[in-house]
This record gives sequence, structure tokens and C-alpha cells, in this order.
Amino acid sequence: AEDNPKITIDSTRPGATINRDIYGQFAEHLGRGIYEGIWVGKDSEIENINGFRTDVIEALREINVPLVRWPGGCFADEYRWRDGIGPRDQRPVRVNTHWGGVEEDNAFGTHEFFELVELLGAEAYVNGNLGTGNPREMAEWLEYMTGTSNSVVVEERRKNGRDAPWKIAYFGVGNEAWGCGGHMRPAYYADLYNHFATFLKTPRGSEPKFVASGGHTTDTSWTDVLSKNVQRQMDGISFHFYTLPTANWDDKGESTGFPEDQWFATLWQTLRMDEFIRLNKKVLDKNDPEKKLGFYVDEWGTWYNPEEGREPGFLYQQNTLRDAVVAALNFNVFHEHADRVHMTNIAQMVNVLQAMILTDKEKMVLTPTYHVYDLYQVFQDATALPFEIENPSSYRVGDQSLPGISASAARGKDGQIYLSLVNLDPNQSQNISVDVKGLELTRADGRLITADTMDAHNTFVAPNQIVPGDYQAEAEGSGALQLEVPAKSVLVVALKN
Ligand code: AHR
Repeated sequence: AEDNPKITIDSTRPGATINRDIYGQFAEHLGRGIYEGIWVGKDSEIENINGFRTDVIEALREINVPLVRWPGGCFADEYRWRDGIGPRDQRPVRVNTHWGGVEEDNAFGTHEFFELVELLGAEAYVNGNLGTGNPREMAEWLEYMTGTSNSVVVEERRKNGRDAPWKIAYFGVGNEAWGCGGHMRPAYYADLYNHFATFLKTPRGSEPKFVASGGHTTDTSWTDVLSKNVQRQMDGISFHFYTLPTANWDDKGESTGFPEDQWFATLWQTLRMDEFIRLNKKVLDKNDPEKKLGFYVDEWGTWYNPEEGREPGFLYQQNTLRDAVVAALNFNVFHEHADRVHMTNIAQMVNVLQAMILTDKEKMVLTPTYHVYDLYQVFQDATALPFEIENPSSYRVGDQSLPGISASAARGKDGQIYLSLVNLDPNQSQNISVDVKGLELTRADGRLITADTMDAHNTFVAPNQIVPGDYQAEAEGSGALQLEVPAKSVLVVALKN
């Protein structure tokens, strides 16, 4: 009908590149995120490649993970990198004070991390310890990883079995300095950043991008103070925002079995990401008009109440169709701000918060969020394309409303034009007409994620409750292409002429 939403894409005005690192992951020493989720050790009965779970590695390779952030998070600011090198049976045991107070035997350390990213074909984002470490420790870790000299530090790496230096794509100087990283004020952290960064040296040509730990939610003071006061090497400022259905840290909301008003509230909360990025971009555009600095959302995702009967400090939660929609909405926002948002990391990759994968001993299940990463692979390093929506629909609950549809368009590396559409409304399907200026579209081919219920999810006994299905649409005659987008769904299609 004439009052249906209509999307018109302009492929003649290409926008920013959608950096593939927007699809980055986060793996912290937290709960079963690393131990059991990724690393089981060579002697495990669970099938493994040199200690890494074969099933998890294979599944992650399918979604082309570009980047993994490690070892935290809060954990990073207590981590002693020397604990995690050398013969495994001689590594010291510590207590993971942030996450469940469990023993950390350091079986997974620097060498294991780089082996993981090599197995995944991904790049490394290493987060240094500013909170309890000192500049020498941080500098020597960097030297250990990247050095090519005959120094005692680099020789130690060789002795531990690795001759060639590793490549580090990003290096974080502390984490959440406003909170678990030391409860600092921005000006104090900016001084510390300058202090530590003075000593962070690598051989020429192997410098990582250096990341300053920034703010959260509406607080832009971190972006402001850091972009004004950091004189030493800094390539980007990070930002964290978690989606809580209730916005209340004491009772966040449940991961399954929630009512529609929590579906609505969750999507409303997650779309605040757009507002936060805009606020920070405004500050950056003033202090860094040449756009040298990136804005890295290096922690984001849903955070629900812990599941009954599980250790609350392990942050294990189920993942439903709602999480799939949350992921896709965030991607569409990141694409829109691809000029500044060059990297993000969802929290977290396996068994923690909004995970791609859940494991239970030898069993593994892929979450709806995993499938969204799969669909959106075509956007990695694509070029964003501007579009307009006429007659935008809305999704209403009571007197509140959200956009009915969220969209993003880009030209993929393969030259094809891709469109993603998210239907936020859990009750109404929507008919969207799609047009590309100057092109006669004949068809759309892609994949769709949806389900009958808002909290549809995969379990170890029923792992295929929610998986992508094929989607095709053909233009009728010379009319515009009509796409029927089911209620509560995520669609990614290639548009063809
Ligand atoms: O992702 C879980 C935790 O959330 C991280 O360790 C910390 O940086 C944030 O508060």
C-alpha cells in the first residue's frame, strides 16, 4: 500500500568504510568464558586442538571473527602477565577477585591467547594493566610480544617457544578507569595515560593502535578530557554501555520469560547507543576535527539477572530472539557512525553475558546472537550507503513508541548492495518497499532470523529452535521491490538488478 514504509538507497554517494573490527569479540577471564568455553587443555576428553575446544573454534571461524579483546575487563587491571608464561605446571595460582573469587591457574596466558587468535584468523586486542601494574611491567609485556631484539625479555619469549614477534592490532592502557580500573577522575587517568604511554615502545612498523579507557552512558567528560590532554600516543578512546531491560543494576530483568513491556524497554535502552555516540562525536569533532581518533565501543551487549542456581559472578545468561534484535540494532547504529566507530567488542564471546556460544561440558550451542554475526558478515569492510525512509512506521506500547524498522545499507567488498532490516515490533509484520536510485531491482536474496516467541532460544537439548532461514523476494513487474519483514525479525539481503 502507498503508506507502507519506503527505503530509497543512494549508491552514488558512498559513506565511510564499515571497519570489520566493529564485529570484534571480547574474551575475559570470567566464569566459563575462557576455561571450558575456549580452553580445555590438551588432556581433556572434550575434542580439542592443542587444548582449544574444536567445536567452539570451528563455529567461531564460520563467523569470521576479526578481533578478540583479552584478558579483560576488570580482570585486566589485576592481571600479572608473567603469571601466564612458561611451563604450565609451574604457573602460579591467583584468585580472580572480580569474578566469583575462583582460583585462576593461569593455564591460559599470552602464548595461548595468540594461538587462539591465530586459530580464528583474527587479530589481537590486548588490554594492559594500569590499575595495579606499573609502566615497566606494561612496557615489558609489549616488548615480550612484539620485540625482535636479543634483549633478555625477548629471549624469554623465544625460550617459551615463540621465535617470531606477534602482531598486536590494539593495545588498551587500563580498563574502566572510572570504576573497577581504579575509581579515578578523568584528569588523573589522563596524566597516568601520558605517563604509561611514554614507555610503550615497539619496533618501528609494529605499533598497535593505543586505546585510552573512556566513559560510559551520557558521561562525555572522559572523551573531552582525554582528547584535550593526552599528548602521548592515543589512537582511540573507548566507551562502554550495557543494555539492561530495567536500567536497574539491582534487578536487571530476566533473560527469558519476560513480558512485552520488557521487550520494548530493552530495545529502547539499546537504541540509546545512538544518542551516546552522537554526544561523544560532538566532543571529538570539536577537539579532534581531523578525525584522527577513533571511538571504540569495546564493551556492549545485554546484561540480565544471573540464572537461578548459578554462580552470579560468572555472568552466564540465556540468549534469545530479543538478543538477536539487540545485536542487529547496535550494528545498524555502528554502521551509521562508521566514520568514528572503527571498533567494537560485544561482551562476551563464550558463556558470558550476550554470548555467541554457550557450552555445558562437552555440549555446545550457538545463540541467536551468533546467527546475527553470521548474517552481518557481509558488512565487514563494506562501504556504508546513505538511505531515506519515507512513511516510517512506529512500534507503540502504551503512550511510548520506537521506530518500527531499523535499517542499514552498504556496498559489500564483493560489489553487491546489502540491506539489513530489523522489525522491532513483536506483533506486526511490515511490508517495506525498497529502491536503489538509478537501479531497477528485480530481486532480493538473503537470510532471516525470527521465531514465534519473543524469548525463543536454543538449548543443549533443542539447539535449532532459532536458526537463520533463506529469504527471497522478487519484484512484480516494474514496481519497486517489496520486502515482507516478519514481526520481531532480523533480515539481511543482497539487492539485485
Ligand atoms: O564484561 C563484564 C565487565 O563489565 C567487564 O569486566 C568490565 O569492564 C565491565 O564493567
